[in-house]
Amino acid sequence: MKFFVDTANIDEIRDLADTGLLDGVTTNPSLIAKTGRNFLNVVAEICEVVKGPVSAEVAATDFETMLAEGRKLAGIADNIAVKVPLTRDGLKTCKVLSEGGTMVNVTLCFSANQAILAAKAGATFISPFVGRLDDLATDGMGLIDDICQIYANYPNFTTEVLVASVRSPMHIVDAARIGAHVATVPPAVLWSLFNHPLTDKGLAAFLSDWEKTGQSIL
Ligand code: E4P
Repeated sequence: MKFFVDTANIDEIRDLADTGLLDGVTTNPSLIAKTGRNFLNVVAEICEVVKGPVSAEVAATDFETMLAEGRKLAGIADNIAVKVPLTRDGLKTCKVLSEGGTMVNVTLCFSANQAILAAKAGATFISPFVGRLDDLATDGMGLIDDICQIYANYPNFTTEVLVASVRSPMHIVDAARIGAHVATVPPAVLWSLFNHPLTDKGLAAFLSDWEKTGQSIL
């Protein structure tokens, strides 16, 4: 399973990249707004830190402008994945960009029908939002399961399932059980994956006993 981090904060991205476990980054207009910085500069900086796919979202809603914005974003770096919303114009943009060799992340997916359309449009990634579905008492992870099963029925679908709107470590475990290709995760949730109180307790005991031996490895 690939881990993308869901943030546009360059310091958080650097820290996570340093673990060697980060495969990509997703941003959206809300995350960019939080930084207070220039969109194109932030994205260019992220692409220098992380060599895997970096999603940058178009702001227009009509095909011609989305395409122009997508091409401009794709020109920033080879690892840009242009993010388009799951609308008619978004999927039309997806098809043209994908056929031209640009990675495309189709976002704001909330149903299996939408995911089928995105795969037919040649999306590199489909982003179903599990947390936002859960918030409406709808089974977000059930949607991930449906999409993974449907895509597996059609070997010519190459679209990867990118689990988005992740809110907890259990979303990641459940998505991995299903076999989703990627999870994009807020930094705090990614860091929380490392933690277990028994690891801390066990390590403290080992270190204390080691000290009693008076030995040194180096
Ligand atoms: C990622 O691509 C999405 O924009 C993001 O995961 C949305 O998460 P949220 O529902 O927590 O805003």
